[in-house]
Amino acid sequence: SERPDDRVPKQHLLVVANRLPVSAVRRGEDSWALEISVGGLVSALLGINEFEARWIGWAGVNVPDEVGQRSLTKALAEKRCIPVFLDEETVHQYYNGYCNNILWPLFHYLGLPQEDRLATTRSFQSQFAAYKKANQMFADVVNEHYKEGDVVWCHDYHLMFLPQCLKDYNNKMKVGWFLHTPFPSSEIHRTLPSRSELLKSVLAADLVGFHTYDYARHFVSACTRILGLEGTPDGVEDQGKLTRVAAFPIGIDSDRFIQALELPQVKDHIKELRDRFDGRMVMLGVDRLDMIKGIPQKILAFEKFLEENPIWRDKVVLVQIAVPTRTDVPEYQKLSCQVHEIVGRINGRFGSLTTVPIHHLDQSLDFHALCALYAITDVALVTSLRDGMNLVSYEFVACQASKKGVLILSEFAGAAQSLGAGAILVNPWNVTEVAASIGYALTMPADEREKRHRHNFMHVTTHTSQEWAETFVSELNDTIVEAQLRTRQ
Ligand code: G6P
Repeated sequence: SERPDDRVPKQHLLVVANRLPVSAVRRGEDSWALEISVGGLVSALLGINEFEARWIGWAGVNVPDEVGQRSLTKALAEKRCIPVFLDEETVHQYYNGYCNNILWPLFHYLGLPQEDRLATTRSFQSQFAAYKKANQMFADVVNEHYKEGDVVWCHDYHLMFLPQCLKDYNNKMKVGWFLHTPFPSSEIHRTLPSRSELLKSVLAADLVGFHTYDYARHFVSACTRILGLEGTPDGVEDQGKLTRVAAFPIGIDSDRFIQALELPQVKDHIKELRDRFDGRMVMLGVDRLDMIKGIPQKILAFEKFLEENPIWRDKVVLVQIAVPTRTDVPEYQKLSCQVHEIVGRINGRFGSLTTVPIHHLDQSLDFHALCALYAITDVALVTSLRDGMNLVSYEFVACQASKKGVLILSEFAGAAQSLGAGAILVNPWNVTEVAASIGYALTMPADEREKRHRHNFMHVTTHTSQEWAETFVSELNDTIVEAQLRTRQ
């Protein structure tokens, strides 16, 4: 029981990410609704409260007028958020273009866009220019709010240029960068026209973090093979300057989920859902509607399972929550049509007058409804083709203390390395294997379910987002100390 005045002052942190934890929706000239943003990055960062943290990022909305910018800045200040205002053209070229049409697919092994090579090459250059410009805009806002002693923590593939921009402003700034996606094999990264520039800029940071050891290793290989630098067990060395590179597996705020299950409204939800699905086992998918999540593959595996096991047709339901995301990017629009077509076909094929085998929702659920859904689920299906970590798998486990349901998990999600012993690991491309795993999961004996759940639950509740952030930031602080010691020697 510490007295307040014994406490160490909280570390001041500037968290910089493309997306703020709240997204703004305009209600009037100077009135705003703030909604919690969706995605792994936000669900992890929301759990951090050990720091005096301020957030810098894009509020997800175009605000061309000064009145709007002023009032939104004020509304966000209450949430300790500082907006970066990006105009429409920048959003189009930087966010939709370079980030989500080039880097995102590439880092998930889906390659560079290939449709029209010439057009792609031309737009590639303008999109990269917009990417650099946007990163510079983030750097300007950081620089404006930075105070000596602050630690600046940059996040994700949107901001690979930021460490360099920040060090150009102030070489003493403590800068960390963390990637929330996989870092691909150096053979994939080397196809990127701006491969060297991005690597060099990231190396300007003092500490570079990834979810898994494999991603860190791929990054170091890319630096040695593409830039010709020396990789050491601690990171990458360039003319005597060491950039620390390490793995920091992310987690969730598990208590937030566990405690939510005790709330009366969540208990009501749970009861409602149980009644609704009475007599049927519930399988669940919760994903952003993104090609990396393997949603078509998952649904096709479910179809195969129903095809081969007629006895299960009226005894199981797949609830698929597919949260719309990046809807201005053509690949995402195509995916949405594709998924609707497959779901329609399967429901037409195996549905009846009163029920359908797949409940597919193009919506996000509020937090309490989501917790209830996790809690009543018998089998969760995570079939990502590649995924940095996948925190949906963690959230499901956190809500399963009483049911002890089964997690079917892609071996290509970072989470496979932490939850592998408790989950059924699958190759999502192998529809036959996934269909067989569905059968195995639905009929798994209680003692095996319990054993697997215990392993996962232990991991999820001990490797939290709080612990992840503390480890990263303390290592970032140490790195700086090391660097200062070296200069003094
Ligand atoms: C992933 C990325 C995040 C991103 C989230 C949602 O989790 O790693 O950086 O915020 O997806 O995507 P969006 O494009 O809507 O921000």
